[in-house]
Amino acid sequence: DETTARRKDAHLDLCATGDVEPAQNSTLLEHVHLIHCAMPEMAVEDVDLSTPFLGKRLQAPLLVTGMTGGTERAGAVNRDLALLAERHGLAFGVGSQRAMAEDSARAASYAVRDVAPTVALLGNIGLYQAIGLGVDGVRRLMDAIGADGMALHLNAGQELTQPEGDRDFRGGYRVVEELARAFGDRLLVKETGCGIGPDVARRLVELGVRNVDVSGLGGTSWVRVEQLRAAGPQAQVGAEFSGWGIPTAAAIASVRKAVGPEVRLVASGGVRGGLESAKVLALGADLAGMALPLFRAQQQGGLPAAEEALKVILTGLRQALVLTGSRTVAQLRQRPRVMSGALKDWLAAL
Ligand code: FNR
Repeated sequence: DETTARRKDAHLDLCATGDVEPAQNSTLLEHVHLIHCAMPEMAVEDVDLSTPFLGKRLQAPLLVTGMTGGTERAGAVNRDLALLAERHGLAFGVGSQRAMAEDSARAASYAVRDVAPTVALLGNIGLYQAIGLGVDGVRRLMDAIGADGMALHLNAGQELTQPEGDRDFRGGYRVVEELARAFGDRLLVKETGCGIGPDVARRLVELGVRNVDVSGLGGTSWVRVEQLRAAGPQAQVGAEFSGWGIPTAAAIASVRKAVGPEVRLVASGGVRGGLESAKVLALGADLAGMALPLFRAQQQGGLPAAEEALKVILTGLRQALVLTGSRTVAQLRQRPRVMSGALKDWLAAL
């Protein structure tokens, strides 16, 4: 309905200019140190970043994670970023398709296939909306935009900070199991900035999930976004919890240890450049995911600004591989690395 779409535009305004990345939060990626190789014995062109995802071949292991849809402004964001992903061989996700599930007139703002005919494309819906829609309803959302897969997002922290949000989180695993059975490796389960830890990841994989985006703490905080929209006691609790979550570095390293190598892992949540992308790949991610930096660049200068931002990221990623003497992500993972400080404490507990 109208309120879903209006809330989405309020979210976009806050994310475009608001303080949605609390300074005290950290991915803990500053505690990961890749080790310099003074004699790389390779050319930048030797770096091969290609990787399989959703039955397609990406040119770089990057996912523009799901953000938006439902309004005209959201449609422009989707089209610019999907075109960018198409040009550079990345994967791209639309934001929650709840608005189009409620009103099919909003579907056009999620349609990107005309500008991104071959991009590895993910649809998106919240776990608790999926309960209401059922397997067939979720499949219709995926098919309506010609997506290659469907992202199911988990956001208990955000819901609890949202005055109108969900308060009952029972029955989640049952829906995941049904969706995993129906969608197979076309299903991806993701958090939205509070992180998926090893226990939840293991359970998801037992139920048949084959793609997980840990989306950890350290980047966009949806608790903070809702805190900024809330008033009174709700805002106070939001302030208290805007640093809640599993830091992205701790989430990706511990989840990779908990699940087998066949599970495709995405690390998003505060990943902000090529070097940080290389770090999450070294820790076990198959893809690095980003939302806010590309969204902000697009809002500030459209597709050209988003493309500039992406080029910096891709250049940094290639450079990190060269300077560790790695031609591929597989080689990067074999290299030694230093993990220090609080990250070590997290990994001792997880
Ligand atoms: C998001 N995110 C998100 N996730 C999701 O599954 N469905 C959604 O509709 C949205 N909407 C959305 C809007 C905007 C403007 C942003 C910035 C983010 C969450 C996103 O996919 C990602 O998990 C987190 O934002 C963490 O990554 P970054 O932003 O720190 O790179």
